[in-house]
Amino acid sequence: MNGFNTLNHMANEAQVATGLEPRGRLAGKNAIITGAAGGIGLETTILFLREGASVLMTDISEPHLAKALSKAKEMAPNATGRVETMKVDVSKEADIEAAVQSLDSWGGLDVIFNNAGIMHSDDADAVDTSEKIWDLTQNINVKGVWFGSKHAVLSLRKHKKTRGSIINTASVVALVGSATPQLAYTASKGAVLAMTRELAIVHAREGFRFNALCPAPLNTPLLQDWLGDDQAKRHRREVHFPTGRFGEAIEQAQAVLFLASDESSFVNGTDFVVDGGMTKAYVTPEGPATQPPVNFARS
Ligand SMILES: NC(=O)c1ccc[n+]([C@@H]2O[C@H](COP(=O)([O-])OP(=O)(O)OC[C@H]3O[C@@H](n4cnc5c(N)ncnc54)[C@H](O)[C@@H]3O)[C@@H](O)[C@H]2O)c1
Repeated sequence: MNGFNTLNHMANEAQVATGLEPRGRLAGKNAIITGAAGGIGLETTILFLREGASVLMTDISEPHLAKALSKAKEMAPNATGRVETMKVDVSKEADIEAAVQSLDSWGGLDVIFNNAGIMHSDDADAVDTSEKIWDLTQNINVKGVWFGSKHAVLSLRKHKKTRGSIINTASVVALVGSATPQLAYTASKGAVLAMTRELAIVHAREGFRFNALCPAPLNTPLLQDWLGDDQAKRHRREVHFPTGRFGEAIEQAQAVLFLASDESSFVNGTDFVVDGGMTKAYVTPEGPATQPPVNFARS
């Protein structure tokens, strides 16, 4: 690539990261994001703020939330909406209820992104997964999504809203099996898909949409630190990506933005797969990987 092309390429990538110029796609909407302190949740917070939403960032970790809040303000300096934080453990219904009710003074929620989730390092196969890890994973990944969905519905009704968008984070492991098992996690994400689909149908005539986001493995510190420079371990995963690379958190956030906005008014009950084609691939191409877009929080 020559110098001009390199510059051109970098400019294009920056545009992908920022979603071009903000267009107020969420203007006037109040959103709650769970697990907002890092990864997908933080990228989504920044994108939502840039698109005119007010955002309540929630997470179980207060120190991480504080850092994430200052990053969000830095990356969305022209935000017109509010941004606040609240400590929420999604496995506790009272926490979720308090977060949702705190938006009453904003005019009630319009969007909730039930994104918080864990993938425990002791999660394994049918033989080696302990009941403790199983229950912990279901409590956060499944019950947390149920509580978020339940209190979103109650709030939307209370505020007599005729539109609402609930986005629940599942995973591609709910769609395809993996020979590197995390049984509790996989079962939890399958439950998120089924629950979201049913909620979508139940509430369709109230105007409340429910969609499940299915991310592929991402280029997040959690996964990448674990892979380290073990090339064999890395290759075993990368070979399944048609584009030759892991996904970026910002690529998930862009999908969430669409699902949250009224642009997706007829998108309901989907398993919204954002995986670079991974779950549709058999033999993948050879050659260099495609260039990923730049994340806000790590730029
Ligand atoms: N990273 C991936 O490769 C990948 C792939 C598919 C799906 N996902 C899903 O995407 C979602 C976000 O993951 P991420 O990659 O951004 O990871 P992450 O670990 O960066 O973010 C998850 C956030 O959830 C918070 N959290 C954990 N337990 C919580 C609880 N009980 N209550 C409230 N918050 C809690 C954490 O503090 C963290 O900030 C998760 O549901 C995850 O399962 C991730």
